[in-house]
Amino acid sequence: MTTTAIVGLGNIGSRLAADLVDGGRPVLLAGRDLAAARELAGRLGDRATAVTTAEAVDRADVLVLAVWFDTIKELIAEYGDRLDGTIVVDPSNPIAPDGAGGFTKTIPEDQSAGEIIAGLLPPGARPVKAFGTLMADSLRTAANRTPHRGAGFYAADDTAAGEVVAALISDAGFDPVRVGGIGSSRRIEVFGDLHEGTIGSVPTAREAAELL
Ligand SMILES: NC(=O)c1ccc[n+]([C@@H]2O[C@H](COP(=O)([O-])OP(=O)(O)OC[C@H]3O[C@@H](n4cnc5c(N)ncnc54)[C@H](OP(=O)(O)O)[C@@H]3O)[C@@H](O)[C@H]2O)c1
Repeated sequence: MTTTAIVGLGNIGSRLAADLVDGGRPVLLAGRDLAAARELAGRLGDRATAVTTAEAVDRADVLVLAVWFDTIKELIAEYGDRLDGTIVVDPSNPIAPDGAGGFTKTIPEDQSAGEIIAGLLPPGARPVKAFGTLMADSLRTAANRTPHRGAGFYAADDTAAGEVVAALISDAGFDPVRVGGIGSSRRIEVFGDLHEGTIGSVPTAREAAELL
């Protein structure tokens, strides 16, 4: 079975871990604090295992980097040469507080974190943009929504890698919807036309398809 690891156990990482475990998917969990990762794994049960970041990198077929954009860059600088063949999932939104209670984009308007991260990865790594379109709270409240599941957008150039991540999205309780290649990442990042903050809700897969 595919080995899935999540590095970064804050709002998104811990929520995604819980959704995946609920969906029957084993996960390796890593953060800066191994004791905190162990505590979270203990709460999530037998399917969750705490590991170091290095072990997550080395064991994962799918590595979700659930940390901030700049930290993803640092992790790639440190571990990039060990990511050959690894599907690297980037959920990041390149934003920072704007000082007025809102957020501002930290990279040029016409760029996406997804494309920048993909460009920093070694040629053998397989980038997929996913799990950054919904707020962490929506990953909780809309998972396995009835009667119509919510859409989980992703972008990937590598079709097979995208399909592996689509299966993860499904296990996490959402209907996977491919928006296009990594070049389409901006649409599903914050301020993009398909981001939850723009749409104002979690669309169904059918609604999502109409928006594509
Ligand atoms: N929150 C959302 O609703 C949301 C929605 C969509 C996308 N995202 C994206 O998801 C990413 C994570 O956001 P978040 O809200 O989950 O942030 P967060 O709650 O601040 O969590 C970030 C986590 O990264 C960990 N971390 C920092 N440096 C690390 C390192 N070198 N190695 C391993 N772990 C490290 C932090 O650990 P410490 O606790 O030790 O600092 C923290 O647990 C961001 O890129 C964000 O744009 C967030």
